[in-house]
Amino acid sequence: MKILIIGGGNMGMTYAQSFLRSHIAGKDNMMILEKSPEKAVELSQKDIGTVYGLPEHCVSQADLVILAVKPQDSAHLFSTLRPYVHPQQVFLSIMAGVKMAAISDALGVQKIIRAMPNLPAQIGMGMTAFTSSDEVTRIELVTVQNLMNTTGKTVYVEKESAIDAATAISGSGPAYVWFFMKALIEAAREMGFSPSEAELLVSQTFSGAIELYNASSLSCEEWIDRVSSRGGTTEAALSTYRSNAVHDDIIAGAVAALRRAEELGR
Ligand SMILES: NC(=O)c1ccc[n+]([C@@H]2O[C@H](COP(=O)([O-])OP(=O)(O)OC[C@H]3O[C@@H](n4cnc5c(N)ncnc54)[C@H](OP(=O)(O)O)[C@@H]3O)[C@@H](O)[C@H]2O)c1
Repeated sequence: MKILIIGGGNMGMTYAQSFLRSHIAGKDNMMILEKSPEKAVELSQKDIGTVYGLPEHCVSQADLVILAVKPQDSAHLFSTLRPYVHPQQVFLSIMAGVKMAAISDALGVQKIIRAMPNLPAQIGMGMTAFTSSDEVTRIELVTVQNLMNTTGKTVYVEKESAIDAATAISGSGPAYVWFFMKALIEAAREMGFSPSEAELLVSQTFSGAIELYNASSLSCEEWIDRVSSRGGTTEAALSTYRSNAVHDDIIAGAVAALRRAEELGR
């Protein structure tokens, strides 16, 4: 299968490198279309496949076309691609907020998969939600899911609206975690730790808590009950968070992200 990645930026390169590293695709079958000549030269030196600057030189050869440009560049991209696409090709879009109907209308194609990855995909720890049009066959869907699995975990969602919801949870989610980590690092600094000690205490605490959660069948609530004894230190912190409505604020933040994703999609 010939794969064409359009947009040799952060995500495009994450995909190319993950596919090659996992040997699920060979560089003979990888093409990258990048409009910036400087970036194209840089990419050609990376040994990740053949790099092209113009759609007419590569688009029609591809079985799978991955759309990895910024959403604001999509309209221009579609107009340049349209003459070279054909109905047998599968299109995988990771562009935030660009609906499958918009891709289908602009390109005149039917086989579309829309995915929302997140940043930890760069280290194979990503979370991707994806959906597809009815015209994508089961085999095509599994093939694309196997490719995306090289960047982390994936979940198929039936409704396209769930992609906006995934954007609000896992897409933007890493920033919520860093926001919480930053506050805890500041607390550690105020308590007298050096910057590096504070970062180590907090990052190892997050990693450890997540690994422990993943290694057990207990829910977050059950873990919280286990570690917070009545009148203890953990309970003192959690009761402050509860009285300050931190829990509700986190939910409100995620809902605000969902509303924004919906707005951008319109
Ligand atoms: N980064 C993330 O964590 C993340 C997560 C989920 C989804 N996404 C989605 O992934 C997409 C790519 O994001 P990114 O962070 O990888 O962006 P990026 O680093 O800016 O990469 C996009 C690349 O596409 C190039 N490009 C633009 N128009 C083109 C065209 N017509 N033909 C060929 N190449 C073109 C850009 O070149 P120029 O720089 O010259 O414009 C740039 O090199 C976005 O739609 C974003 O919504 C990203």
